[in-house]
This record gives sequence, structure tokens and C-alpha cells, in this order.
Amino acid sequence: MESKRIAAEHAVTYIKDGMVVGLGTGSTAYWAIRKIGERVKEGLLVRAVATSRQSEQLAQELGIPLVAFEEIDGIDITIDGADEVDGELNLIKGGGGALLREKIVAASSGKLIIIADESKLVNRLGTFPLPVEVTVFGSSLTMKKLAKFGCPLKLRTVNNQPFVTDNGNYIIDCQFGAIEQPQQLHDEINGIPGVVINGLFIHMADRVIIGQNDGTVREL
Ligand code: 5RP
Repeated sequence: MESKRIAAEHAVTYIKDGMVVGLGTGSTAYWAIRKIGERVKEGLLVRAVATSRQSEQLAQELGIPLVAFEEIDGIDITIDGADEVDGELNLIKGGGGALLREKIVAASSGKLIIIADESKLVNRLGTFPLPVEVTVFGSSLTMKKLAKFGCPLKLRTVNNQPFVTDNGNYIIDCQFGAIEQPQQLHDEINGIPGVVINGLFIHMADRVIIGQNDGTVREL
């Protein structure tokens, strides 16, 4: 928890007055949102968009001004977590189920800063099960198509019920093990009708800030 907080607080130093800020989702992004809230109380002038209802609620509680997408042309900076980060700053995201909004926000951000502890760094993506968001309609057929990649997979559940995303979709978690060609896999999965988005974020992160166990940060 401490290394997540350290990474998050360092990332927040990149935020300047007047910026539109994308708020990530998860236990690392939580610390960034907390810090942004503190800085807003001290006078920082920003407007924010959230990548989940959870982050939106936290931002509201902390008094961070939120803005509708219709009112902005783009996002200056987004600070978000990740489930895995490789040496090329490719990511697996979506462990918290917010991958669709996270990718939409990331794709419109001038700068995407990823914050993580050291446990998220990997040589090759894929040990963490890749989240794939799918429409509820036809989800069992979509699952069969995904199974053709040869990976064990399962429908994400909570309390023995399908987990439903903020967008009303399901998530299939695909255990690839080691992903040799992330871009190719990303494109092939997205080509399946019924797939809304997958959790591979290829060449999207501009910077990764790792909070280390010794209390320092490392920037990649
Ligand atoms: C949510 C995400 C999160 O950023 C990711 O799961 C990392 O979460 P945490 O910071 O709690 O480890 O992609 O959809």
C-alpha cells in the first residue's frame, strides 16, 4: 500500500493549474485521487473526468470538480493504475473492471501516467488474466470464440453472479500465461463480434511511475 501511495503522490506533481485530469480506478489510483483532492483544497484549479462510478464518487466526496465529456475537447493528463506493465510500457488493465472507460479516457489524454508498485512489473504480459469486456447478448457464444485462443477463461463473477461493468457488460478473464504478440492478440480479440474492448493497452502509456519498497520512486 505504501509503495502505491508513493507512486501516486509523485504522479500528482505532474498536474498543473488549468488542466483537465483523467482519474483512474483501483487501489493505486485511489491514492492519486486523494492527493488531487488535497491539492484542490489548497487551491489547485483543475477539472476532472472519472473512469468509473467508484472514482467519480470519491472525487465528489473530496470536492474535485468533475466535468462532462461534452464540455471538453480532450484530457491533459490521466493518472491510472495497471495490473501488469512490461518493458515497453505495454499494460494489462481491467482487474477492477473499468477497462472500457479507462481506455476511452487514456486514448483522449495528452499524457497517460501509470502508477504501480514493483509487483506489477513483468518481462512478458499475460500472467495476470486478460480482462475482455463483452456484451451480455451472446456472451456465451463470444466466450466460445475467445476459448479458441487456447486460454483457460472464466466469466468474472461477484457473489456467484456475473460481474456487471459500469457499462452494463460482462467481463471474461482469459489466462494466457505469456503473450508473445500483444498487438496482434489485441487486434484479434477486438475482431470478435460481442467483444467491446480488451485490457491490453499497447503503446498508450507515456510514463510509468513505480513506487519501490525502499520508499523511492522509479520512472520508466
Ligand atoms: C481497473 C484497473 C486498475 O488500474 C488495475 O486493476 C490496478 O488496480 P490496483 O491499483 O488496485 O492494483 O485497470 O480496471
